Order: sequence, then structure tokens, then C-alpha cells
Amino acid sequence: TPLDKIRNFSIIAHIDHGKSTLADRLIQRTGGLSDREMTAQVLDNMDIEKERGITIKAQTVRLDYKGHVLNLMDTPGHVDFAYEVSRSLAACEGALLVVDAAQGVEAQTLANVYQSIEHDHEIVPVINKIDLPAAEPEKVKKEIEDIIGLPADDAVLASAKSGIGIDEILDAIVARIPPPKGDADAPLKAMLVDSWYDPYLGVVILIRVIDGSIRKGQLIKFMNAGTTHLIDRVGCFRPKIELLPDLGPGEIGFITAQIKEITETRVGDTITDAKRPAAEALPGFKEVQPVVFCGLFPVDANDFEKLRDSIGKLRLNDASFSFEMETSAALGFGFRCGFLGLLHLEIIQERLTREYDLDLITTAPSVVYTIHLTHSKTEDARTIELHNPADMPDPNRIESIEEPWIEATIYVPDEYLGSILKLCQDRRGIQLDLTYVGGRAQLKYELPLNEVVFDFYDRLKSISRGYASFDYHQIGYREGDLVKMGILVNNEPVDALSMIVHRGTAEARGRGMCERLKDLIPRHLFKIPIQAAIGGKVIARETIAAMRKDVTAKCYGGDASRKRKLLDKQKEGKKRMREYGSVSIPQEAFIAALRMG
Ligand code: GTP
Repeated sequence: TPLDKIRNFSIIAHIDHGKSTLADRLIQRTGGLSDREMTAQVLDNMDIEKERGITIKAQTVRLDYKGHVLNLMDTPGHVDFAYEVSRSLAACEGALLVVDAAQGVEAQTLANVYQSIEHDHEIVPVINKIDLPAAEPEKVKKEIEDIIGLPADDAVLASAKSGIGIDEILDAIVARIPPPKGDADAPLKAMLVDSWYDPYLGVVILIRVIDGSIRKGQLIKFMNAGTTHLIDRVGCFRPKIELLPDLGPGEIGFITAQIKEITETRVGDTITDAKRPAAEALPGFKEVQPVVFCGLFPVDANDFEKLRDSIGKLRLNDASFSFEMETSAALGFGFRCGFLGLLHLEIIQERLTREYDLDLITTAPSVVYTIHLTHSKTEDARTIELHNPADMPDPNRIESIEEPWIEATIYVPDEYLGSILKLCQDRRGIQLDLTYVGGRAQLKYELPLNEVVFDFYDRLKSISRGYASFDYHQIGYREGDLVKMGILVNNEPVDALSMIVHRGTAEARGRGMCERLKDLIPRHLFKIPIQAAIGGKVIARETIAAMRKDVTAKCYGGDASRKRKLLDKQKEGKKRMREYGSVSIPQEAFIAALRMG
């Protein structure tokens, strides 16, 4: 396809403003799917994917419109995947900014739109849901101008649901988003945008060609990984797979090259011709490293093999997630897993539970600490990386501990600013900057990642009623006064609940943890002390009083069915509990206890 006939774009939207509905509409209008196939949302529905045997994990679809090729690229919207979002955006020249006509500009829109602007995108505002009685398109136009600073006079008014404005959007993409640039005669240079494992095709690699062209039978080289492969398929998604003879400059599509492991295909790598390589790789390649670690254990020890198998399968499709076997005194056999962030952790955990039907216990998330020891056998071994609080060396052997810090950018409406400042302050934040962007505050803070991984994002959202948005990047390691805090239930340490905390906040954390556990652990026939301790020193304590009588005693009058229900419920509860000595701790307690109040 000639360059001037190509348009590459993504869709930016706050959650629920209609991104998926619009994407589906664009596919339908340009003929990618029949009306019958349009019954459910296409772009982010995994079941549909399976049912039709099409692969749309890449969520990139090639649309034909009035002699042009339009590539619609979906992007993951969360900070955990910031680097992947940034690579997807780098593959486009423009974006549709979808704003709900009744809701107006919201915080998440801002963070996304600024990222898009950073990539020099041409942005086409689309005011969606104009069919709603509460739609106020003029007001929303003004918000786009005042808050975001984009001209909105020629914003397209649309309803993705009723199909209004779809042609206007397609026309605007062609007219306003610039075509890509590239040199067809230069050596091949393509960016690896995404990759995933497909049971039929093996590893599928989504690419954006910058210069030159890529075709079947070509020997290619991954410039950062240093590996070479022979291409066996080139194609695109419409959203069904279509094979193509080649992909030229500016084009987006996929290749396969009999690659078995996606670990070999890193997002952001540069693909070139092995025989006629490009002089240099594309800038900005970054290997994503897991930053949050936690243990995953089966509730039922017999499920360990099933867990191993399921984790292995998930890993086939997600190179940014790591795992190794771990044993815990209390939890038995499980895995220590690494994630890009908390959301990533939740997604994996959710998939294991839902798709693989596993009951899991997740231990406290931890960041990676660098520990300098006072002495060790060899000089090299004096510095260790700690992924698991359980492996914390004896404090007497520790010279110093360093922890990762981030720089966070937060957008928040004025009225919540005070509470957000307090939250950042409580989490050992250092304020760098406070400015105003159209009635919203833009805050910049340095924060220890350790204070963010637990529930910072949840807190931020609840304090601001969903209006604050948050983005961060790591800025390196700094020394901190950190200690390991252990939790004892009925005088037995529960290793899964131990965590590394700052000495200054340890007591408050310990107290919060004990209080929550007191509510989460059901009463037993005996009194249960719950303690938080640093080394041998107890810093917080609560006690669960003994149970007075059998719960079924409440069911006076011998209502048999009610009694049975209650017993069933108890049994159900039992199944999801772990025994610690003589105490049963419900699975939920582990997760809930780690969320700070
Ligand atoms: P996430 O995938 O959760 O980020 O949401 P999204 O931005 O993709 O929004 P989605 O397309 O799922 O739409 C959210 C809701 O808005 C759905 O219930 C849609 O049916 C509805 N919706 C989308 N477009 C329109 C529209 O033009 N008019 C009306 N009335 N509803 C719409």
C-alpha cells in the first residue's frame, strides 16, 4: 500500500465512554464482519475470539475505507502496561479522542491524551453518545478546549450505539490524520509492538514497519535480542486473519516465524533483515522487568500440579510475568511470581481463578529490595536482591537496604486535592510540583514503590470518586530505614503475611493489620491473640474473643432446612480456609488484610 493511502490510529477514551462500541462500529461499517458476527463486542471479547478461531489479542484491525487502509490499534489503558501503551502509540500517527457527551472530559482521558500528544499524534475529538437525552455536546466541546487545550470546533458528533457519525469519523481519519513516513528502499526496520502465543500459529508478532519491507521467506534479525528467524507468514487482521505477500513502510500487521517462546520476542525490539541489516535499532527499547512480586499458593495442596500447569500456560502469552517455585511453612508448595504492577497481578490471579478454576492464596505483594550485607563469603555476594520478605537476612547482617522509588503524576479535581496530598504525604511522598491544568491540579510526587503497590491506586480512586488519574515511572533505588514485620496468629508466625515496611510507618501498619485480621478471622472456641512484631518485639496486638456457643444454636425450633443451609455455608467457608496450628484463616483474610485502611 502506498504511504499516502495508509492511516494508523488508536482510540483514547475514559472507561465506559464507548471505545469498544465505536471500534466494533468501524469494523462493521468497513465490512470486516457481517451483521450476524457483530452480535457482541469484538475488540475485547476473549470468548468470541475462541469461538470463531480468530486471533485478536493484538486488537489491531485493518479497515478498508474509500481506497485507504486504516489500521485501528487498541491499547491497554493502565499504568502497569505503560511501556506497552507507549509502544502501541509509537506505531500510530493519530488518535480518536472519544468523550461521552453526557459525562464530559474525565481524568483518565487526560492522562491518555497527554501520552498521545507526546507521540505527536494528530487528535480527532469524537463526542459520543449524542443519542442520550442528557447529552450536552456544546458543553463537552468547551471542556475539550479548556481542559485539554485541543480545538474542538470540528469534533465529530456521534453515537456508536445508534450508528450516527460513523462515516464522518472515517472521513476525519482520512482527512486529518497524517499518513506514515518511511523509506521503501532502505533496509528493513520494523518495531515489535506486541506478541502472543496462538495454539495454531505459534508465536504471533504484531509489527509496525518503519522502513523497507518484510515478506515470507525472509531471514530476519531481532536487533536487541540478537536472534535470527525465517518468516513463514505475513498478514493482517480484519479482524479475521488474512495472509499478505508482504508489508511495506507504514504498514501494521503480523508475522510468524516458527518461534516457540514469546520470551524471545520483546515488545519494543527492532526487526531487521539479517542479510542487509539496518544501521541502528529504533530508540527507546526497554526490557520490561517485573516490579511487584508475590506468592501464589493453592488453597488445596492437591492442586499444586494444576497450578503449575496453568501458570505455565498463562506465561505462554505473557512474557512480562515471571514465576519460580516457592515453599512456605504455612502454605506449602506454590510459586513466587513477578508482575508489572498490581493490576497485572490481579489480572493473572483472576485468570487462574476463572479460566483454570483454581482457589488461590496470594501473599503480600512486595517490591524488589537491594540489600547490602556487612559481610559474606565473597565480595559479590555482599549485595543481594530480595524478592520475598521471607528471605530477609538476619538484621545483624544487614548494612543497608535500598528500595525502588517512582515519580508519580496525578491529575485530580481541586476539591479532592487536600485528601490526595495527605495520602501522598502518608505514603512518604516528596512533593515535586503542583500546577493547574484547566481546573484540575497536576501533582508530581516522588514515592517509594513499596508504599504504592498495596492499595495506593484504589485509595486514590476512592478518595477522588474515580476522578483522579495516576501515572508513574521508576526513578531508581534509594536507601531506606526498612524492617521486616511479621504477623503472629495464636503465637504462630504466618509467613504469608510478613512484609517489609518503613520503620516510621511500621506501627501504624501493624496496628491496621491486626485490627483487620481481628475482623476477618472468625471466632474459635478459644481466645486468639494477633500480633505484629519486628524481630522479637511486638509492636501491635489484638485479641479475638472465644466463641460462646455453636452457631446452629441460633436456629431454634428445629428448622431443619435452615440449619442445613447454615452448616453447608460453614462447610463452604471451611473449604476456603487455611489451618494455622489450630486456627483457621479464611482465604479472603489474606488479601483483605493487606489492603491498608
Ligand atoms: P471499557 O471497555 O470498559 O473501557 O469501556 P469502553 O470505553 O470500551 O465502552 P463500551 O464501548 O463498552 O461502552 C460502554 C457503555 O456505553 C456500553 O453499555 C455501551 O452500550 C454504551 N454506549 C457506547 N456508545 C454509546 C452511544 O453512542 N450511545 C449510548 N446511549 N450508549 C453507548
